[in-house]
Amino acid sequence: MTTIKRYSPLLVALHWLIALLILAMLALGFTRLGGRPNDSAKIQLLSLHMPIGISIFVLMLARIFVRFLTKKPAPASIGNPLLDKIGEVVHYLLYLIALSMSISGMGISALAGLPAIVFEDKGPLPVDFATFPPAIGHGFLAFVLSGLLTLHIGAALYHQFIRHDGLLGRMWFGKE
Ligand code: HEM
Repeated sequence: MTTIKRYSPLLVALHWLIALLILAMLALGFTRLGGRPNDSAKIQLLSLHMPIGISIFVLMLARIFVRFLTKKPAPASIGNPLLDKIGEVVHYLLYLIALSMSISGMGISALAGLPAIVFEDKGPLPVDFATFPPAIGHGFLAFVLSGLLTLHIGAALYHQFIRHDGLLGRMWFGKE
């Protein structure tokens, strides 16, 4: 079986685009949405947050599709089977939780009638999103996703700068 050194360029592009969008969404969500009054400034922020969140959902599905269709390098190892397994589980959870964030966000939007309020200027926002069950999940999953991302980024930096195994290069463009 032929092994390759890095992921396909399309998968690499999707990885970094999605990473950037998710980090921006978490930063925007934590600092400007959660715990803030539901005023007109929030409507403006949601007019960015909602389409970007839906784009992340579509890009994640495209990414999963591309991942199945393209060749992948051999699984990364740090020589400890338990830690290797944890790394693998974190990757699956990242897909699951990022998709669940988008789905719970769309749930809030549907229940609160946000498309009409945000994009057609039809009335104010509901006083509190906490009355909509998906909002509880959205807030909680945002913390879970932040924790998983911290582990994921920490592991990548450990590989790159402590083990010096060039793992980050597998998720960048270059010759096969
Ligand atoms: C991966 C995608 C997404 C991420 C990472 C994300 C992240 C966040 C974060 C961190 C918050 C603040 C939560 C809090 O502290 O309570 C938030 C709030 C919110 N998000 Fe998202 N979001 C995503 C997708 C979506 C989508 C697709 C929609 C709707 C179509 C949406 C609608 C909302 C709404 C309405 C709030 C306001 C909740 C409030 O103000 O209490 N989100 N989001």
